[in-house]
Amino acid sequence: MERNEFIKSLGLGIALVCTGSCLSSCGKKGDDPSPNNPSGGGGVSSGTTASVDLGTQLLTVGASVVVSGILFIRTATGNATTSFAATQATCPHQGGSLNFIQASNFIQCSLHASRYTTSGSILAQPNDGGTTSALKTYPLTLTGSTLSATA
Ligand code: FES
Repeated sequence: MERNEFIKSLGLGIALVCTGSCLSSCGKKGDDPSPNNPSGGGGVSSGTTASVDLGTQLLTVGASVVVSGILFIRTATGNATTSFAATQATCPHQGGSLNFIQASNFIQCSLHASRYTTSGSILAQPNDGGTTSALKTYPLTLTGSTLSATA
């Protein structure tokens, strides 16, 4: 091998090693801006509208239903928007499904038991030592017996 060929092959080898180490460092877990939230938070896409028919759904105080990723809860009697709450249906922590616990009047995650008020505030952090954030809540409109929430 000539001296020039040796130097060229040496340079190519160094370039390959540098490229490889740069690419492997790009995929490190520490680069995740939300390491405690790998599922993306469980929010609903902006602009999503979900509706329930109050003629057949949410008939009693404490009743709840999930439609298109939105958790609807009846919090009071009467068919006014103030009688209901609408929050995201999946947990901001790691995407567990959220359920309204009528007997305790809070929303609870099925995965790590974090708890929230019907207005989205945090009552209890996850039981795995992680932290969650407040739930997204959605404005409600009522047209006839159709209750709608828009994300
Ligand atoms: S996913 Fe809900 S508390 Fe962990």
